[in-house]
Amino acid sequence: MEIGIDKIGFFAPHMYVDMTNLAVARGVEPEKFTIGIGQSQMAVAPITQDPVTLAANAALEILDEEDRAQIDMVLFGTESGIDNSKSAAVYVHHLLGLKAEARAVELKQACYGATAGIQLAKGHIALHPESKVLVLGSDIARYGLKTSGESTQGAGAVVMVISAAPRILALDNDNAFLSNDIMDFWRPIYSEQAFVDGKFSNEQYVHFFNEVWKQYKEKTGNDLADFEAICFHLPYTKMGWKALRTELPNADESTQERLKANYQISTAYNRNIGNIYTGSLYLSLLSLLEQKEDLQAGAKIGLFSYGSGAVGEFFTGTLQPGFQRMLKKTDHENLFATRRELTVAEYEKIFEETLPKDGSTIELDIESDPAAICVAGMQDNKRLYINKEHLIEQK
Ligand code: COA
Repeated sequence: MEIGIDKIGFFAPHMYVDMTNLAVARGVEPEKFTIGIGQSQMAVAPITQDPVTLAANAALEILDEEDRAQIDMVLFGTESGIDNSKSAAVYVHHLLGLKAEARAVELKQACYGATAGIQLAKGHIALHPESKVLVLGSDIARYGLKTSGESTQGAGAVVMVISAAPRILALDNDNAFLSNDIMDFWRPIYSEQAFVDGKFSNEQYVHFFNEVWKQYKEKTGNDLADFEAICFHLPYTKMGWKALRTELPNADESTQERLKANYQISTAYNRNIGNIYTGSLYLSLLSLLEQKEDLQAGAKIGLFSYGSGAVGEFFTGTLQPGFQRMLKKTDHENLFATRRELTVAEYEKIFEETLPKDGSTIELDIESDPAAICVAGMQDNKRLYINKEHLIEQK
C-alpha cells in the first residue's frame, strides 16, 4: 500500500518587509541578506495571526467534506505554540469543523515537528488504511529586533493530508534518521524569543545532513543520480545549499547540474517568506512542485528535515501521476502578489505588539486582516478565534 501526501496547502500573512530595506536600516550591505543569507522578503505576522490561525487558514484551502469525514488524527508540529498544555491541534480541529472522533496532538522538536507528524501518520494509516491524517507545520520565527537572527525570521504554515493512495507524493520506507543532544537553538518556556548559537547550528545542520545521507546510501544503495531534486529544511535559502554542495562533487556532471538547478527552484517561496520553522521543508517542496514547469510523475524527490537540538532525517518519495491537479499554484502566486509591503518602522511596531498577559480583555481589528481565520481578541487568558467565512466563534 502506498502512503504519502495527498494534499498540500500553504498560508502566510498578508504583510512583508523587503530585506534590502531591512539591511539598510541595520547598517549592513544588502547583499549580505540577499546573497549571503539568500532572502529577498520576510513575512510579518500581524497580531491577529498566530500559529493556530496560520495553520487553520492553510488547511481551509485544501479540505473538503470527504476529508472532514475521514480525518481521524490531527498532528500539529510547532515550536512557537501558544500554550504549554493545550495543543494547537485541538483549536485547529474546532476551527476547521473536523469530526469529533479524532485524536489531536501537538508535536515538538524544533523544526522537525511536522516531519515527526508525517512519520507517525504513515504508521497510523498502515494500520487504518481508510483514515486520513492532517499534519500541520506552523510557526512564527522570532529572534528579536536588531539581533543576528533577525534576517532569518518569517511566518507561515504548510499543511498536508496524509493518506493511502496519495495523489501527490508516495513516501518510501527507507528513512535515515539521527538524534543528538546539542544546544544550537532553544527557547526556554519563559522566553518569547529563541536563543541560538548561529555558527554552531549551521555546522550541525551540515553534519546531520552528511550523516543521514551516508546512512541512507548504505541502507539503500541509492545515490544522488537517483534523485530529480532534493528539498531541504530552509531556515534561510543559503543553508540547504551549504549542505548540498558538500555532497555534489561525488556525483556526475549532469546530476550536479540538475540538483543545483532544482535546488534553486525549491527555494523560490522560502526566499520571499523567511523561516517558518516546521513548515520550511514543505514550503521548499511546494516551491519545487509548483514552480518547476517540467517536473514529471515518477520523479524521485529527497527531503532533508532538521530540527535543532537536534534531530535530522532524510526520506524520499515518488511523484504521482496527475500531481499537478492537486496543487493550488495560482492561489499561492496570488497570495504573494497581493501582500502589502511594510516599511521597517511599520514592521518594528508590529513586531512589538503583544497580546495581554494579565487576563485583561482586548478586541482586535480583524477587518484589517484579509485572512478568513483570525485571533479576534483575548478574554480571561483565552484567545478568541473567529472564522469570518463560517462565523464559527470559539466557545
Ligand atoms: N555580500 C555577500 N555575502 C555576504 C556579504 C556581502 N556584502 N556580507 C556577508 N556575507 C555573507 C557571509 O560571508 C556569510 O556567508 P557564509 O555563511 O557562506 O560564510 C553570510 O553572508 C552570513 O554572514 P554572517 O557574518 O555569518 O552572518 P551573521 O553572523 O549575521 O549570522 C546566521 C547569520 C544565519 C548565523 C544568523 O542569522 C542566525 O543565527 N540565524 C538563526 C539560526 C539559523 O537559522 N540557523 C540555521 C540552522 S537551523
